[in-house]
Amino acid sequence: MGETSVVVRLHFGRDDAERDSADGLLREGFKETAAYSAVVSGRKMLVIGRKGVGKSAICVRLAFAGAHSGGTALITPDDTAGEEIRQFELTGLAGDHAKSLMWRYVFALRAAQYLVRHAAEHRGRTPASVKALRSFLKANQELIGEAQDANGFQQWSRGLSGSLSLEAFGVKAAADFARTSTEGARAAYRLKVLEEGVRLGFADLGCAPAHTLLLLVDQLEQVWSGDLASNSLIIGLLLAARHVASQYGSALRCVLFLRSDIYDSLTFGEGDKFRSDELRIDWTESDLEDLVVRRAKSSVGPELTAQRLWSEVFPRTVRGRRTASYLLSHTLLRPRDLIQYLNECQFTAIGNGHHDRIHESDVLAATRRFSEWKLKDLVQEYLVAHPFLERLFPLFQNSGYLMTRAALRHRVELTQDTLHREFPAYAVVLTLDGIITTLYEVGFLGVRRGNGIVYAGVPLLPVQPHEDEFHLHPCFREALGATSAAGVGAYDRQVLDSIQSQVTSGSVHVVPQGGSRAARGYMLLGRLERACRSVLGHIARSDGLPDEVRTEIAAQVRRILDDTEHAPYADPPVDEDRIVLEAAGYFRTLASRLRRDGLDGDDGADSLAVRLSELSTRLVRSVGGGPGSSGES
Ligand SMILES: Nc1ncnc2c1ncn2[C@@H]1O[C@H](COP(=O)(O)OP(=O)(O)O)[C@@H](O)[C@H]1O
Ligand SMILES: [Mg+2]
Repeated sequence: MGETSVVVRLHFGRDDAERDSADGLLREGFKETAAYSAVVSGRKMLVIGRKGVGKSAICVRLAFAGAHSGGTALITPDDTAGEEIRQFELTGLAGDHAKSLMWRYVFALRAAQYLVRHAAEHRGRTPASVKALRSFLKANQELIGEAQDANGFQQWSRGLSGSLSLEAFGVKAAADFARTSTEGARAAYRLKVLEEGVRLGFADLGCAPAHTLLLLVDQLEQVWSGDLASNSLIIGLLLAARHVASQYGSALRCVLFLRSDIYDSLTFGEGDKFRSDELRIDWTESDLEDLVVRRAKSSVGPELTAQRLWSEVFPRTVRGRRTASYLLSHTLLRPRDLIQYLNECQFTAIGNGHHDRIHESDVLAATRRFSEWKLKDLVQEYLVAHPFLERLFPLFQNSGYLMTRAALRHRVELTQDTLHREFPAYAVVLTLDGIITTLYEVGFLGVRRGNGIVYAGVPLLPVQPHEDEFHLHPCFREALGATSAAGVGAYDRQVLDSIQSQVTSGSVHVVPQGGSRAARGYMLLGRLERACRSVLGHIARSDGLPDEVRTEIAAQVRRILDDTEHAPYADPPVDEDRIVLEAAGYFRTLASRLRRDGLDGDDGADSLAVRLSELSTRLVRSVGGGPGSSGES
């Protein structure tokens, strides 16, 4: 690898396809996924996916010369168009239907523009049908827009409701339609004339099926605002895309790119007819890893193999896990997440003066910041669909990442009134089940199924009523301060640290049992030792506890046990009373956390929380009392 350090030269690209493509990254760094092939082959016309999952990337890639054998046209409605489209109504037509006429009009215009341009590439005489299209475009230039690739949204409502000149197709004056009754019917008639003109153009040029025109409709989120008119805008689009297939045959194909939250919120009669056209973008970890390497290569050079990237540039492991898998587990498995995360790792490393390689500490610092971004992005992503999302986060702040249904119920009950007051329109969703469903669907919570935790993916199997263990997605844990399973925090060790420093300085000396230390001290430590073993035994037996919690608590109790066993050898001597009291305090905190979060499997006298409280009380008593009052039962 070259002279300037790899870390500095590395660039994972921009996080949206539009700017990314300007950098050329979608040429060399594009990963051809199953979703991409399904679109290219024409098997699917509806591409659905979350924000940042790579919808626009497919669009941009298809628009590159060579990726598709025919022509392509990209249609992206902007804000102003959106406003006009939403407000458009035609008397005599239902909302969805009016909107579908608008989309058909836009499609027909783009097809006409394409045909006129494309005919020039065919040798021989231009067919009369294409000439007609050319004069139609010319006559209506003002309505359609100046640029060759104008979307046609600008004046479309004016066009359809009367101003469009159809003389090029032999239809003389507006008077011709006077007999047709409603505004809607007149618009439909005009559109038919235009579509027929376009169909003839395609037929005469005869490009299909070897070359089809692909119309790519993207960025609909720009004009969607969750209201009825927006929904009808999207439904109209779906209907229009269907219509196109029958109107132009294989000469023209429409591919729509839709955000999943938008698509899933639609309800309309013909919804089920689109199931077989749907394609949900879903990334596997290995595809994402491959994408990362491609991008790294395209900035540094082909010599940067996966092996070198994950050992020479990045640390091999982070928190004991393979780095790539650590990073992936902290994202929602979307390319945008990963690109942002990796760029942040690199940025942090450079900021810390680590130009040779990225250190584990850089990755950890980047993880924290990335987590904060993602929490904010989640709110942003669902601002329209679930405006209350941000208000649910406090339910998860500074606690364990593992939560039972009981614990959630308790927390929801505490905040339900406030939530209902603030979001009266959402009262039906702001129940325990509604909240769980929503948080699961957006990928915030995962659910325990069998031996694993399932986070929302494709296909989405909803949370079942009997499922009652939930995990906060690792992506959001840092930002919410919920990085341990039970949220109990670590036992603060004092003894072992002091012994360890003596071991390294070689000054440890063994104090024989019963030697210089007071008998009371040994008695206290012995009691604590027995208490710890009793807790460990209890944990091993209680099968109600979730595994993560079990492991976490056992590890902490083992540390206390370790401290206790080493205490007699500490130099300077440790204060046994303090060790025992601190351990007792820790047991009490654990007990109340377990109770509060409903983590404790069996609620009876046999529960771990009960045992911990008892032991805690006895330990405190034994410190307070003399050797006579043992405090042990
Ligand atoms: N198949 C892919 N190969 C390479 N990069 C991709 C691919 N899919 C997405 N990306 C990149 O991921 C980022 C997010 O994708 P984008 O298409 O903007 O998401 P969306 O439009 O779904 O919100 C962009 O930087 C894009 O270039
Ligand atoms: Mg996009």
